[in-house]
Amino acid sequence: MWYTSSLKYKDKFKEENPRHVAIIMDGNGRWANKKGKMRILGHKEGFKAVKKAVKFSIMNNLKILTLYAFSSENWNRPVFEIKSLMELFFFALDSEINNFKKFNIRLKVIGDITHFNKKLQKRIHQVEKITLNNNGLILNIAANYGGRWDIIQSVKKIVKKVQNGVLQTEKIEEKTITQYLSTSELLPVDLVIRTGGEKRISNFLLWQIAYSELYFTDVLWPDFNDCSFQNAIDSFISRERRFGGFKKI
Ligand code: FPP
Repeated sequence: MWYTSSLKYKDKFKEENPRHVAIIMDGNGRWANKKGKMRILGHKEGFKAVKKAVKFSIMNNLKILTLYAFSSENWNRPVFEIKSLMELFFFALDSEINNFKKFNIRLKVIGDITHFNKKLQKRIHQVEKITLNNNGLILNIAANYGGRWDIIQSVKKIVKKVQNGVLQTEKIEEKTITQYLSTSELLPVDLVIRTGGEKRISNFLLWQIAYSELYFTDVLWPDFNDCSFQNAIDSFISRERRFGGFKKI
């Protein structure tokens, strides 16, 4: 009896889990500084936390995990750090391809990757293609991504449709903008987590998170573990989502 009721509880718990979680992975540099190490070592440790978060997402049956890996503003960092981040990204794609296959993960990259070197662009496209039919977790990496960029590129596509006479200006509505965003094929973002203590969105998914729940934690990204992730999920589950409506009593 205890067993069945706890199973029921577990099922309900799972049902209430967010389907799409997006994370601003902040605090790698400070983690490294605290330990007297170079910033890039913080990013390398951050990659280990990425692997843990992916495993947690699979175990908890999340459908989509979106990670803010490189913002369009990150180009303002020292050249050495940018180069090291690109190398880490390339290494991650190479070293994780077998896990993508083994765990049925589909890799998707959003953002303007045309600014990356050709070799990295090619590898991104290859891994996206190889994993395209995997129907487990979608690991969505935001790379050279900016929320404003995403809205602009959506608007540009819409303007072209109008110019070609395929779309009438009066017919443009919310869903038209959504349809041309880089996330168009994904489920809505339920929960945004930001680590590292700052309480801002930093040009992440702007349009997409209009009704998402936001969760901020002081934990620095390399220290973000299953327990930290579970705390964020618990907080999400405890909230009442009204989407601008009201709760019937
Ligand atoms: C922010 O920390 C983190 C980044 C700009 C890069 C995130 C990259 C990783 C977690 C590693 C690799 C990821 C993948 C997907 C391969 P920060 O440098 O702004 O930290 P700070 O605020 O303490 O300086």
